[in-house]
Amino acid sequence: QKLNFVVLTGSLRQASYNAAIAKTLPELAPANANIIALGSIGDFPLYNADVQEQGMPVVVTEMADAIAKSDGLIIVSPEYNYSVPGVLKNALDWISRCSPQPIAGKPVMIASASPGNVGGARMQYHLRQILVFFDARVLNKPEAMIGQVHNKVQEGKLVDDDTREFLAKQLLSFTVFASKP
Ligand code: FNR
Repeated sequence: QKLNFVVLTGSLRQASYNAAIAKTLPELAPANANIIALGSIGDFPLYNADVQEQGMPVVVTEMADAIAKSDGLIIVSPEYNYSVPGVLKNALDWISRCSPQPIAGKPVMIASASPGNVGGARMQYHLRQILVFFDARVLNKPEAMIGQVHNKVQEGKLVDDDTREFLAKQLLSFTVFASKP
C-alpha cells in the first residue's frame, strides 16, 4: 500500500539549504512512499487569538487538512539560536488550534541542516518537546542532523552521496514506522 507523506520546511529563505533537502526527499523515498510539499508557512499571519476568533485563516486550515489526510508529516528545518525558527513555531501554534488537531497521533519525521557541525541537533530536541503537546508519533531513529550543508547542496538539491544514502535509510524507517497501526 502506497503511503502519502507531506513535507513542511522551517525556512522561508529563497536559497534555503533545508528547503533544498526537502525538495530532494521525493527522489530518496522508497517505492511505496509518495512525498509532497506543503505550502509555505511564510503566508501564515502572526498568531493572535483575536485573529483566530474572526475565523481560522484559510492558509492554516488548508495546511491542517493536508496534514490530516496524509499518512505522515516530515519537518525539515534549520536551527535558530539553538531552537526552532520563530516562523515554524508560529505555524505549529496555529495548527495546534485547529480542531480536530491534525498532528495528534500522526507519524512525524524530523530532519535538519546547518552550515555548522551540529546540523541543527538542538532545534530537534525543542521540536520534539513541542510535538509532545501535539501527541504526535515521532520517529526516534535514525536522527538526521546534517552538518556542513553548504558543501552538500548544489543548485537547490542535495548532492552529497553519503547524506542522500542516510536520508534514504531514514525515509525507509519512517515508511515502516508509519505503516504500523
Ligand atoms: C542561524 N544559524 C544557526 N545555525 C546553527 O547551527 N545553530 C544556530 O543556533 C543558528 N542560529 C541562527 C539564528 C539565526 C537568526 C539565523 C538567521 C541563522 C545559521 C543557520 O543554520 C543558517 O543560516 C542556515 O543556512 C539556515 O537554514 P536555511 O535557511 O539555509 O535552510
